[in-house]
Amino acid sequence: MAGTDRGAWSSRLGFILAAAGSAVGLGNIWGFPTQVGQGGGAAFVLVYLMCVALICAPIMVAEVAIGRRAQRDPVTAFRVIRPGTAWWLTGLLGVLAGVGILSFYAVIAGWTVAYIWFTATGAVTGGQQAFGEFFTAFVSNVPVIIGLTLLVLGTTASIIVAGVHGGIERVTKLLMPVLIGLLLLLAIRAVTLPGAENGLAYYMRPDMSRIWDIGVLNAALGQAFFSLSLGMGAMITYGSYLSRRETIGTAVIWVVVLDTGIALLAGFIIFPAGFSIPGFDPATGGPGLIFTVLPRLFATLPGGHLFGAAFFILLAMAALTSTISLLEVPVAHLIDAHGWSRPRAVLVVTGATAVLAIPSALSNGAVPFFTSLPGLGMGFLDLMALIWNNFALPIGGLFVALFVGWAWRIDGALEELQAEGASFPMPAVWGGLLRYVCPIAIGLIIVFTFRAAFGG
Ligand code: PFF
Repeated sequence: MAGTDRGAWSSRLGFILAAAGSAVGLGNIWGFPTQVGQGGGAAFVLVYLMCVALICAPIMVAEVAIGRRAQRDPVTAFRVIRPGTAWWLTGLLGVLAGVGILSFYAVIAGWTVAYIWFTATGAVTGGQQAFGEFFTAFVSNVPVIIGLTLLVLGTTASIIVAGVHGGIERVTKLLMPVLIGLLLLLAIRAVTLPGAENGLAYYMRPDMSRIWDIGVLNAALGQAFFSLSLGMGAMITYGSYLSRRETIGTAVIWVVVLDTGIALLAGFIIFPAGFSIPGFDPATGGPGLIFTVLPRLFATLPGGHLFGAAFFILLAMAALTSTISLLEVPVAHLIDAHGWSRPRAVLVVTGATAVLAIPSALSNGAVPFFTSLPGLGMGFLDLMALIWNNFALPIGGLFVALFVGWAWRIDGALEELQAEGASFPMPAVWGGLLRYVCPIAIGLIIVFTFRAAFGG
């Protein structure tokens, strides 16, 4: 069935590596601590973990099952499984989300690339204020920021032209263990800094009154979808390259545990290190949080330049394995559904994404209009993150849950999950979560978020 431009993973490990490469990225190390800081600390962490376990993990299984059954891009996949229905619109939403997310993701990945250089050369020095001022000056430098964004997009495109398998598998195999090792080292250093205990308390002792804060619930849900690459068909696409001989259940557990573990680990670095700085306020860091806290942490380490540069190299590589999956969703769609050649699809999608990326690149102080959009009180990049992460991804996930739970039906999906004698743990629990818990929880969170924003 597979078209000529389709590929396949070489093994289940290949799929786990590629899916983990997609999941682990800026979302874990930049996004998660930033969101925890804005969501009030440990309460956010608790809600996040519940979203991952009860909503996102079951949806990831569903996405991979859809992809493997159909062996097609996310739009065509819904058409193959339920022909003649409108479910394919779920896939189309994902294709758009791929472009939308990549447009701002590439900007932040560009910052990461620049910080390899800054830390290696010791360009950022001085007190905490100096780190913050350096970041502010850097992100408002128009030509540099645009150049870096285009560099990230160009690199992603050039890898994707050659096809997804092979390259990503190999990069990720090396990347994951080294990244985890370095993060562990940094966490050990961070928790032994003076004042670190305040950071640990902030991170681990939840303020229970915030658990039902609709803003926190929506942010945690969106962050969980974003971090696990769910709700936009990335896992459908990657599942479509998975062989029927492999066990989906175990593979998904691996990806979820790795991704969540790495995000939690990042928090054990940022908050202890942050709170060791006098007057530190995690809520005000915004997108610059890690770029101001981490260089200071590296400065406290012997050989800090080296550590810092190694860290940002790994983060840039982790971001790249994620941008690849973001671009692959719309590209796979144009190839599978419209018969485009891979190079043509890559060129067109990358060009469109670059255009959409410009306002995000200019929205952190470079151009006042994009930095604070009139009437919205937020920058263009923040607006993109809000639209795609907080709404598009959970809504995409909601439709995936409804599709598998009620249209394809649990029995049909289980046939795929248990194909060729594969074991799948607790099918009834999975079915219940997918049919009832996921749609109701996501639906309520979305409705209440809208009411809080517009209903007063
Ligand atoms: N999961 C990636 C991260 O945490 O950085 C971002 C991402 C990649 C989101 C792919 C969505 C996606 F489809």
